[in-house]
Amino acid sequence: MMKITVVYSNARHGSTWNVAQLYLKQLAKNQEIQVTEFTLPKDMPSFCVGCFGCITRGEKNCPHFQHVDPIVSALKASDLIILTSPVYGMDVSGSMKALLDHLCFMWMSHRPESVMFQKTALTIVTTAGAGLGHTTKTMVNSLKFWGVRTIFKGKYAVSALKWEDVDAKRRAKIEKSVDRNARKIEKAVQLKEKERVTLFTRIFFWMMSGMMKKNDYNLTDRNHWENQGWLNGAKPF
Ligand SMILES: Cc1cc2nc3c(=O)[nH]c(=O)nc-3n(C[C@H](O)[C@H](O)[C@H](O)COP(=O)(O)O)c2cc1C
Repeated sequence: MMKITVVYSNARHGSTWNVAQLYLKQLAKNQEIQVTEFTLPKDMPSFCVGCFGCITRGEKNCPHFQHVDPIVSALKASDLIILTSPVYGMDVSGSMKALLDHLCFMWMSHRPESVMFQKTALTIVTTAGAGLGHTTKTMVNSLKFWGVRTIFKGKYAVSALKWEDVDAKRRAKIEKSVDRNARKIEKAVQLKEKERVTLFTRIFFWMMSGMMKKNDYNLTDRNHWENQGWLNGAKPF
């Protein structure tokens, strides 16, 4: 059974949603899948107000905890995290950025979740023409700094404003790419902790453990690291 959490960053069943469904269909071919879905902005309708509550006093102090908590719980419980966004003005949709802002407390620079270091993730981006790289990077940055071990990137230029207008040749190409990626994703999910940890994660984790040892300004963060044994040489990977 593969547990999957998908975040859609608009409510349209448009190109991005349809590509995500192609992935789910492919992944369901070789194993049972259990999918938890969040649709933005419905499932997280607020902007971060910048109160620092999550960072300095713990995530339960976020004024939007009731929306953030189910999403974080699902991400932690899943084998595969799928973040999706269309390109809006060369970047993610505002609702996706609003969610990512709420999840900064679990960056490696604060309180990363140990389970994240075993996870596999996929980003899916569609665009009419431009902005795939930048938009993908916005979501990959969060995944990377949460500690996610293996990240796949699905980038699709659809040359259309609607999925119905995507021509047959392009759809076939997308389906082929989805099929190829889905097989790689399955393998990564099965391997989990046997997958290679990137040099970036190793170096950044080491830097942050050095910083946390000297941290006397945010004990919420420091205690998290201390309690995991990460200040005494233990690692989450
Ligand atoms: C507000 C808005 C901004 C957009 N900005 C861009 C853009 O900067 N570059 C681009 O090539 N396409 C842009 N598009 C087109 C969409 O990225 C593209 O049609 C995408 O596949 C739509 O995904 P959806 O069908 O899942 O909503 C924009 C669309 C909207 C609605």
